[in-house]
Amino acid sequence: MTDAPKHLLLVDDEAALREAIGERLGDHGYHVVQADSGEVAIDRLAEFAFDVVVTDLRLPGVDGRRVIEVALERYPDIVAIVITGYGTVKDAVDAIKQGAADFITKPFQFDALLHVLGSAFEQRRLRSENDYLRSQLRERYRIDGIVGHSRPMRELFQLLETVAATSSTVLITGETGTGKELAARAIHHASARHGQRFVALNCSAIPETLLEAELFGHVRGAFTGAVSARQGRLETANRGTLFLDEVGTMSPALQAKLLRVIQEREFERIGDSHTIRIDVRVIAATHDDLKQLVAGGGFREDLYYRLNVIPIHLPPLRERREDIPLLVQHFLQRMSRETSPPRTGVTFSQEAMRRLMAYGWPGNVRQLENVVERALALSPGRSQIDVADLPPDVQQADTLEGPGIDWFAEPDFSYDEHVRRIELALIDRALERTGGNKRQAAELLRLKRTTLIEKLKRLQRD
Ligand SMILES: Nc1ncnc2c1ncn2[C@@H]1O[C@H](COP(=O)(O)OP(=O)(O)OP(=O)(O)O)[C@@H](O)[C@H]1O
Ligand SMILES: [Mg+2]
Repeated sequence: MTDAPKHLLLVDDEAALREAIGERLGDHGYHVVQADSGEVAIDRLAEFAFDVVVTDLRLPGVDGRRVIEVALERYPDIVAIVITGYGTVKDAVDAIKQGAADFITKPFQFDALLHVLGSAFEQRRLRSENDYLRSQLRERYRIDGIVGHSRPMRELFQLLETVAATSSTVLITGETGTGKELAARAIHHASARHGQRFVALNCSAIPETLLEAELFGHVRGAFTGAVSARQGRLETANRGTLFLDEVGTMSPALQAKLLRVIQEREFERIGDSHTIRIDVRVIAATHDDLKQLVAGGGFREDLYYRLNVIPIHLPPLRERREDIPLLVQHFLQRMSRETSPPRTGVTFSQEAMRRLMAYGWPGNVRQLENVVERALALSPGRSQIDVADLPPDVQQADTLEGPGIDWFAEPDFSYDEHVRRIELALIDRALERTGGNKRQAAELLRLKRTTLIEKLKRLQRD
């Protein structure tokens, strides 16, 4: 455990109490973000890996129990403290059972809260094997091993389900490592064809002539080396699904043949005149911009439209950072089962998680998977993975830069909210640099100290 300032999310709908506590916690070196409702708290948790969440149990709307549930589900290593309203023991016990570290009863002295926080961190530090850390991933967040619950991923699940019920041709686009093949398999497994084969063929991995033979098969003596007749992947996939990966790399001649297969559902093996009729569902994937290829003459327009009956786009990981903690838990669980002896209960420290969430991930989920694997290998016998176990470029990810640099208009984008986050990040950064000293932070920002304090109050309030 490092002694870096702790990031704390304070949730209470009573503004006066919350602001008073927030201010004093700030004086004690905590970086405090305030939320006046459970809904806001859950949004904040999606954006940032806090070290600790302190929440009132009774909130209008989404209650504190749900906040704790979401916090722990996402970050098994977070310290959760609940504030119980009327000192009802039962609520407190329930919260502890749920995984909260401790509780405090209203009204309380500020020092009592400091004490509860201190001992919760101590308790966590001392606990080497932590079983609540093994909180299970919920099945509802996954369709066939696809993990995610960000808005784009929830929309994707919906789309995958809808598409699975049809036999339409699908075109999956997305950067490398975003899960295109995973999505294709998910469609197959959720479809009526799931009892039949899912046959994958990577068009960029095999030379042109071989690709044609792979796809259509051939008769004996069809070309040099064709010593016996062979069935192609199309036939193998009959009544099932054919996954054509990197379809943008296909030659014009093959594109023409593929078009016929899709339109007529028929083809011939190479060197044969006998026409074979098949029933396959084609799912194509590409990380190229096919539309641009079409414009440049590199891809047949008619084939493009035949493939693109249902387009599915997989968003890059940097546009759904809130899925990172879930993905990390998913990979940790799978990989620690695979090591022998199994290493259960391994988690990432919150600071390490913050770096993961701040990094840009050019290699998307595959790269994240590799980083988790590497970190696990570099931390034998330990139950907590820390910043030092991450690759240098991930270590250097600037955890406070997030909202400013990486803008994208999500469906629920709000200008004011975005600007609020940038301001908050800027002030947070200055406070980080000055070890929480507001006067020095104000100097760095060329603001008056009182202006800074006012801004902080306003920003954390709305
Ligand atoms: N949402 C996800 N949940 C769990 N695992 C995922 C997810 N997305 C991707 N992965 C994992 O990341 C790796 C890469 O996924 P996949 O091979 O499907 O990507 P891809 O888009 O086909 O990449 P490429 O363009 O490089 O072929 C796989 O190991 C896959 O299991
Ligand atoms: Mg792939």
